[in-house]
Amino acid sequence: MPLVNEKDLLLPALEEGRAVGAFNANNMEMVQAFIWAAEEVSKELGEPVDLIIQVSPGAAKYAGWSMAAGMVKIAASETDIRVALNLDHATEIDQVKKALEAGFTAVLFDGSSLPFEENIRLTRQVVEMCHSRGVPVEAELGKIPRIEDYFSQSEIAYLRSLPAAEAVRIIRERAGKSVEELMAKPEDVEYFVKKTGCDFLAAAFGSIHGIWDDIWPIRLDRLIAIQERMRIPLVSHGSSGILMTPKDAERKGIKLLKGEGTLLDAIKTGGVTKVNVATALSIAFIDGFIEAWRANPSEKDFRKFGSAARDRVKEKVKEYMRLFAGKVE
Ligand code: G3H
Ligand code: ZN
Repeated sequence: MPLVNEKDLLLPALEEGRAVGAFNANNMEMVQAFIWAAEEVSKELGEPVDLIIQVSPGAAKYAGWSMAAGMVKIAASETDIRVALNLDHATEIDQVKKALEAGFTAVLFDGSSLPFEENIRLTRQVVEMCHSRGVPVEAELGKIPRIEDYFSQSEIAYLRSLPAAEAVRIIRERAGKSVEELMAKPEDVEYFVKKTGCDFLAAAFGSIHGIWDDIWPIRLDRLIAIQERMRIPLVSHGSSGILMTPKDAERKGIKLLKGEGTLLDAIKTGGVTKVNVATALSIAFIDGFIEAWRANPSEKDFRKFGSAARDRVKEKVKEYMRLFAGKVE
């Protein structure tokens, strides 16, 4: 079917206390993996699973705006899955214009690096542009940092080699205070949403972009305080790194401190209705590709490796989809 408006996916999800996965696509194989995962999980659960495919300005530069949007539109037209196409983390008005021209059905404008009032002013401008075309806007309040803001590439490689609990201890020590200071303030929520006119809110509640595995707890207490201020679909960013469930935390030996929680808690009690995942899928793609190549290094047909990478991404996305539908404990 044609692309759908993201509002048509997130407003019912908010009512029903579930979340919709928003997965970042960089190539054809990723787009196919997401759609096939949604088709398979829909069949498995006996209920339709919705899908948001995201393209960042970086991905649009890599593939070209019309190629990136075109792939998603064609793939959506060949399935019964409801698919919205979101521009992820736009920081310039020109990127929003390009996305609207290419037919995106949602936009995240990320003014989180700007002073508060400037973030509001530019986001408002984006909202006016997008709403005049019926396209909803996600806005960012507080700041969701990147793991690279705190650690060098070689330090990240070292952290990835450690047991999860030890990596979390080190991240807490170096980044914990800063991540806390960057979180959205509940008292800003109504003012920010009213002034910007945004439809969805990417409020920072303790996550970090770009963590390689699900090891990091979010601040559930802050998320709940934000959610109590206003009924609006909330968006989880940096979700690759967030612990999936309390059981998952226990299995990994990660102790949740007071006020902390997992992705499952964020959906069940925190009002999170859109969950953004990028890094975990990029890693799944790389791992799938490399393993297939290692198993057959003399193979000349790279599609063999591309299929393995696509399968690996699909299986990872299916895990997320079951969690977001509330089918995991
Ligand atoms: O907007 C995209 C997401 O926040 C992805 O974060 O790469 O840590 O999963 P992630
Ligand atoms: Zn993000």
